[in-house]
Amino acid sequence: MLSPLATHAGLRRLVTAASAAPSVLNTQPWRFGVHRREHIELHADLDRWLPVADPRGRSLHISCGAALFNLRLALRVAGWRPVSWPLPAIGDDASSLLAAVRPVRAPLASAAEHELYAAIQDRRTNRQPYSDLPVPPAVLAELAAAVRLEGADLVPVGGPAGAALLDEVAMAEERLASDAEYRTELARWTNGGPRCDGLPAYVQGPRPDGVSVPVRSFARTGAETARFEARPQLVVVTTSGDGPQDWLRAGQALQRMLLVATLHGVSASFLNQPLDLRDMRHHTDPQHRRGHPQMIVRIGYGPAVPRAPRRPVPEVLSAA
Ligand SMILES: Cc1cc2nc3c(=O)[nH]c(=O)nc-3n(C[C@H](O)[C@H](O)[C@H](O)COP(=O)(O)O)c2cc1C
Repeated sequence: MLSPLATHAGLRRLVTAASAAPSVLNTQPWRFGVHRREHIELHADLDRWLPVADPRGRSLHISCGAALFNLRLALRVAGWRPVSWPLPAIGDDASSLLAAVRPVRAPLASAAEHELYAAIQDRRTNRQPYSDLPVPPAVLAELAAAVRLEGADLVPVGGPAGAALLDEVAMAEERLASDAEYRTELARWTNGGPRCDGLPAYVQGPRPDGVSVPVRSFARTGAETARFEARPQLVVVTTSGDGPQDWLRAGQALQRMLLVATLHGVSASFLNQPLDLRDMRHHTDPQHRRGHPQMIVRIGYGPAVPRAPRRPVPEVLSAA
């Protein structure tokens, strides 16, 4: 069987799957390079890094980790086992190389792997109001297991802790909204007209007409308003460390979890404002002994939403 790295169609399938991953502000901060048809490299595209909101490159690594997960899954369903190894992260040696993946012959993928792969193109960030129906414990357990499989943890945050976290999100949102540098950077990646990257207005969702869900306000003006669920259900993806390899791991865990959620019809969106603010202020998390929070995820049942655009494959793929 010919390796998918050896044919144009094979490579296209891999990169299309990888590029469907979520990324901070839909920056798609990745590039792929094929090395002697033996392995495929994942690079950070540093022109797409957000130096104001993401000074450590944490969100960039999480985004690239999500793309890495899709790439691994696409190789798996093509009949190969992805052997991936992370490489010195940006900053360590000024290289943009984050990971390399080598396909090794393997038994055919399982039905479950095929199902997960099919969910890649169905998954979306859903910023609409959700119904008041809670995600049942059995599904939550599957989401947590997906996260753990990739070496991270999933912490449900409900009750008073959930209310306190939502307050923190609301406060962080206010502080970010009054930061001129942050606003300028945000504007660069939102409402970008017919671009195939950034966050177009049609995926930004409505403004909440209450205080229950402090969604990120982006740069939208005059967006419609809507009533959000009274008690949003929150889960937080955490990692034991807080360096580039942990962020890549968090991204892979996030993406596996989001695909499992998609299969269960569960929607997800993100309330990461406190994490961005923490990074911008160069603070460490006071609670980090219980795990470093990497993504604050709101889950529930929302209406169908459109897909955010993606850059075309030739823009993100180069043959080394
Ligand atoms: C690291 C990371 C951080 C994100 N932070 C937020 C956020 O705070 N608020 C939000 O609405 N979406 C957030 N997103 C979702 C992205 O905006 C979304 O993935 C991107 O626009 C592509 O859309 P899609 O997920 O529907 O494919 C984040 C995604 C990633 C990977």
